Amino acid sequence: MSEAPVLAVEHLRHGYTLGRSRLEVLRDIELRVRAGERLAIVGASGQGKSTLMHVMGSLERPTAGQVRILDQDVYALSEAKRSALRNRHIGFVYQLHRLLPEFTALENVLMPLLVRRERRRRVEPWARELLERVGLGERLQHKPGMLSGGERQRVALARALVNRPALLLADEPTGNLDSASAERVHRLMLELNAELGTALVVVTHEPALAARMERVLHLRDGRLQDTAGDTHPAQAPLADTRSVGN
Ligand SMILES: Nc1ncnc2c1ncn2[C@@H]1O[C@H](COP(=O)(O)OP(=O)(O)OP(=O)(O)O)[C@@H](O)[C@H]1O
Ligand SMILES: [Mg+2]
Repeated sequence: MSEAPVLAVEHLRHGYTLGRSRLEVLRDIELRVRAGERLAIVGASGQGKSTLMHVMGSLERPTAGQVRILDQDVYALSEAKRSALRNRHIGFVYQLHRLLPEFTALENVLMPLLVRRERRRRVEPWARELLERVGLGERLQHKPGMLSGGERQRVALARALVNRPALLLADEPTGNLDSASAERVHRLMLELNAELGTALVVVTHEPALAARMERVLHLRDGRLQDTAGDTHPAQAPLADTRSVGN
């Protein structure tokens, strides 16, 4: 396994310009996530959690700083290479699900693989299994408009995991779910973390989920702090704990 972190963020800054006013959202973000690590990000509404997830997920170029995924500087890549990296290695669960309305639940989950020209017959069993594991085995042919809000969220999670990504970025993945469905979604994330070594970075307000992560970081005033309030503990155990002896 690679020594490089799955995700490394350095001196990241990001904000928005609206007319003549400038809103600085992320001021100085430093973060390293090791292979298979589980991290929760918490913080009040409007502090920039979704913004940070988009920037880390290679979806929005930051004002300054660097994002490395599996040791590749993602914003130095061409658009095409960045998309390919995202498709292959990152699973993204948006705060709002963003499923394709004209396709069934099963097709939505298959989409990242079909985009990559995988043969449907070969990959469909895994997509079905993921939907079954989030409790949607009976909803494979439903289109998003026929699904409940929580069901759509679960389809979105299955879609994010179908590529067996090295990194799952999930923005409040169980925000709209009842506790039983949320538990099923949490369990699936943790199982894939254990089975495939998928690193988890999850924005959540749910103590039950945060408690199952190895680290919880607080986004406040544009910086990541540990939950005790110190600055910059986000400099995770940098060296992989496996690289003992140097
Ligand atoms: N495209 C944009 N243009 C201008 N301002 C934006 C844009 N996107 C987000 N913002 C602002 O940036 C700030 C952070 O937004 P963001 O969605 O990242 O917050 P959040 O921490 O995810 O909040 P929540 O917990 O409510 O989801 C907010 O004040 C928001 O209004
Ligand atoms: Mg948000």
